[in-house]
Amino acid sequence: MEIKITRTTHPKAKPSMDGIPFGTYFSDHMFLMNYDPEHGWHDARIVPYGPLELEPSCMTLHYAQEVFEGMKAYRRADGHIQMFRPLENIRRMNNSSVKLCIPHIPEEDFLQALKALVEVDQDWVPSEPDTSLYIRPFAIALDAHLGVHVAHTYLFCIITCPVGCYYPEGLNPVKIAVEPREVRAVRGGTGFAKCGGNYAASLHASDKALKKGFSQVLWLDGVEQKYIEEVGSMNVMFKIAGKIVTPSLEKGSVLPGVTRRSALEILRNWGYEIEERDLSIDELIAAAKDGTLEEAWGTGTAAVISPIGEISFEGEDYIIGGFQIGELTQKLYDAITEIQWGKVEDPYGWITPVC
Ligand SMILES: Cc1ncc(COP(=O)(O)O)c(C=O)c1O
Repeated sequence: MEIKITRTTHPKAKPSMDGIPFGTYFSDHMFLMNYDPEHGWHDARIVPYGPLELEPSCMTLHYAQEVFEGMKAYRRADGHIQMFRPLENIRRMNNSSVKLCIPHIPEEDFLQALKALVEVDQDWVPSEPDTSLYIRPFAIALDAHLGVHVAHTYLFCIITCPVGCYYPEGLNPVKIAVEPREVRAVRGGTGFAKCGGNYAASLHASDKALKKGFSQVLWLDGVEQKYIEEVGSMNVMFKIAGKIVTPSLEKGSVLPGVTRRSALEILRNWGYEIEERDLSIDELIAAAKDGTLEEAWGTGTAAVISPIGEISFEGEDYIIGGFQIGELTQKLYDAITEIQWGKVEDPYGWITPVC
């Protein structure tokens, strides 16, 4: 694929990377590529970051026919830049696109676009501890038309932003609230896909939780409202009586996280018994009460591994591990981040060098 590069003539002043907030400052360039039935994906280009021009009738704005991804590029101590399992994100976005009826993007073109954009904006990849360049690819329907149907034209865009910790808490434990009534996803719906509609559906409950002092919502399944699914923007894992228990992906209502997959591969390698299965909230609360719930953590690109120190359910607060980072949680965080920042050899083949 040929990518036309137009560099900005007005590079932005870079923000201080020390304690930089998540998702706030965007780098100088973005990648764009259009789709129409006659030409397929075409006109791949990197241009200065700036507003998109959309018709007010653009179908994405009304019917949310769009998908997105979230991944990161990391600066190693030797100055080189690398990405973590980019093919997993590329495949997940194409999988989300099947559900949203958005045309497939060839994997090699997608990867080339990611690498080219990060290389053009390489000065935006920070080197401070715990910082990285967050990468947000997304594809949106462009048709200017009202009426619910599959669009004919699309825009694929990638933007990037330097980020630090996702939660203000950093690697300190977060408090999460079980949502007893509202649901995020149902069987047969879009839960497994990374599409904006899922996040829109989660806003009301998340906002309620936030106002009560919780970082995120712990979602229960949309059928029986009994089984744990995931946290707002993370998959969730529990260490119960020495075993690792995490909701399975089988029902299609949980996002198949890249960090989840990586954490499970590492844990298996370390000899832990893993149970990917239904875990009811009652079973979890019973384990919290009898002391067998040893550790709990969320996994996600943004926060990597986030210790869960407290779960609130039906007006009761259950403290996990004395509200301290669990030993295994910390070990897992270290193991994944050491690979991501290139501090150790990558024994799994997860790293893709950029420049
Ligand atoms: C709903 C949801 N679940 C789980 C995850 C974790 O996925 P990953 O590890 O690929 O970032 C995310 C973040 O992308 C998410 O938004």
